[in-house]
Amino acid sequence: MNVPDPSSSMTLTMPLATGLLVGIALLYQTWTRPSLQTILKSTNNQQTKLFQPSPPSSQPSHTITISKEPDNPQDWYTGTSTYDLERRALFSKHWLCISHCTQFTKPGDYHATTIAGFPIFLILGKDGTLRAFHNVCRHRAYPVVSQKDRGSSTVLGCRYHGWSYDSLGRLIKAPHFDGVVGFDRAQNGLFAVHTFTSRTGFVFVNLEAQAVGIPPEMGDGLDGFGGKSRWLGGRVVEGRVNWKMGGRVSRLMDSERIGRGGSQRRNLLSWLMHALGLSREGRGSIDVFPFTTVHVVKGTFYWYTLVCVPVSAQWTSFRLDLYGSVNVDSTDSESTLQEAIDQLQTAVDAAEEEYRPYIEDARYYPANIVMIMIKADMCSTSSSACATATQPDAEDADFPQAVLHILKAHMKFERQQGTEVYPAMRQPRRNARFEQAEQLCKKLDCGLRGEDVSW
Ligand code: FES
Repeated sequence: MNVPDPSSSMTLTMPLATGLLVGIALLYQTWTRPSLQTILKSTNNQQTKLFQPSPPSSQPSHTITISKEPDNPQDWYTGTSTYDLERRALFSKHWLCISHCTQFTKPGDYHATTIAGFPIFLILGKDGTLRAFHNVCRHRAYPVVSQKDRGSSTVLGCRYHGWSYDSLGRLIKAPHFDGVVGFDRAQNGLFAVHTFTSRTGFVFVNLEAQAVGIPPEMGDGLDGFGGKSRWLGGRVVEGRVNWKMGGRVSRLMDSERIGRGGSQRRNLLSWLMHALGLSREGRGSIDVFPFTTVHVVKGTFYWYTLVCVPVSAQWTSFRLDLYGSVNVDSTDSESTLQEAIDQLQTAVDAAEEEYRPYIEDARYYPANIVMIMIKADMCSTSSSACATATQPDAEDADFPQAVLHILKAHMKFERQQGTEVYPAMRQPRRNARFEQAEQLCKKLDCGLRGEDVSW
């Protein structure tokens, strides 16, 4: 009696199953969805924007007020007065997408950064929750994380006088203060920064000192990214440009050149996922207002984020973080990251060239902004002229308008208050006992310098 050979049966079954899956994928693609090419074209040709505040409703989108009118500060791209207003009106009270949770894998993993002059750090708590804190010691405001901007420790000790905090931001040690009657450690933990992690792991912070709500739609548009990924590394490129040119830098990057040298070729499974629209490849790129973009590297398993962190009115830190599918071969990730950084450097160099005229003449406007101004003028005099005028790039038009809208709203609020308003400012609670212990601490400092301590 002939007994069928199981191995030969497997040999026959595997190609059959593969062919079947390929067929299903093709049918699925053909019958149930529009052309994949159409989808890729539509998603990749324009960047999607998320969380961009609506412009004033009374103003149609085609009548942009970016012009020589007093609305738009002349030092829009260069001046400290505009930048200071942006710090108060935007960076102190708007949700900012700054990271992805896969950068933090074990309790104590932290990353410190400074956003528009506000030093903060993210840390994964022992309880598994990712939190952000102001990187400011509650004793005398020195930075708590000061040696390196990334690391792992469940206890963070301030190197100046030894105050220590746990991964939940609680003060756990305060030399010279602990025995003082009335000194309450619980009142002297690190100042928390509002933190939100989206469904797919994107981390948002909001520096507003008061309680803030979380918009229900926050993070929704990022659903196509992030899931089942891991962080492969990140680096910073500094550029002498205003942060509002970050979108320009993002568009100048040639992401097609990233990940081409590695061995991350598609296997059958990835091809199927792509054909079924289940991969993130077709998601293109997304702008997350005000300074983050998320990009897919087409034809690879990689995606990256670019965060354009303002340093001053004329300097920006461009932080690029590379992510890949969980099963991506890590041997290629370093070279791919380097390719991405090379592309970023090239884009920043080009943006610096474009920015130079702004520095030399604060009233300089680039061609695209001039087009917006012409468009606005034409629209105000003739609707037919408006209809035939070249439509400015929506990306270039909407973004400054959204920023301007926010600045104007805050200026109006400050006028009502009769003073400048700093939403991120914290007021440390101090009392007589704290001051008494502080005097003791100061004397000990003096003692270390060889001066007399009189008790
Ligand atoms: S400033 Fe941190 S312990 Fe003194």
